Amino acid sequence: MNFKHLKKKVAIEAINYLHSGITIGVGTGSTVFYLIKELKKISHLIYGAVSSSKSSTYFLKNNKINIININQINSLQIYIDSADEVDDKKRMIKGGGGALTGEKIISSISDIFICIVDKSKKVSKIGSKFPIPIEVIPMSTSYVCQEIKKLGGIPKVRKNFFTDYGNIIIDVYHLNMSNPLKTELYINSIVGVVTVGIFAKKKADIVLISSENGIKIL
Ligand code: A5P
Repeated sequence: MNFKHLKKKVAIEAINYLHSGITIGVGTGSTVFYLIKELKKISHLIYGAVSSSKSSTYFLKNNKINIININQINSLQIYIDSADEVDDKKRMIKGGGGALTGEKIISSISDIFICIVDKSKKVSKIGSKFPIPIEVIPMSTSYVCQEIKKLGGIPKVRKNFFTDYGNIIIDVYHLNMSNPLKTELYINSIVGVVTVGIFAKKKADIVLISSENGIKIL
């Protein structure tokens, strides 16, 4: 099913959370693409954006939004991004587009993470449909795969894909996700792992879910 109209709808809703002069964090992906289109309409009111990826930086610049270097700020009021899956506790799986590291860094310095999703992304248990992406240093690929197998997961190296930082993505299937925070912290501790796409430590603060019936707020 094509959820383009629902992605656009939730992106439009997110604009209501912004105020004049704000610097916002901007995620990555097709939903965020619609967000950037909306930001263009109010670009004169926005001070700038901290971008989570090269692709978002490209779209932001093309839409006349000023790019702010994350290392020149200490905090951010709002970060807006989508997710591959989100549960009732506002925990997410992210990184389907491979930008998970930039996304986790920006969300970590943000006061409020607004997650914008269409109804297809809402799940009762994260990790149930979508594989869990892990960004790893290329040299550690084989080692990390072995460690993931010990956890019962099935690792698959994403073919012909390199992250913005020249790293590899391992997509993990069938991982036990009964305790997402514990799994996130454990995978983070494996040597060679840069970032895991489980967002249980830093969760969303507000989740906007679009459907044909309107916008639901978690
Ligand atoms: C990018 O790395 C991801 O975390 C995206 O935020 C997530 O995959 C959602 O993307 P879409 O809006 O394209 O579904």
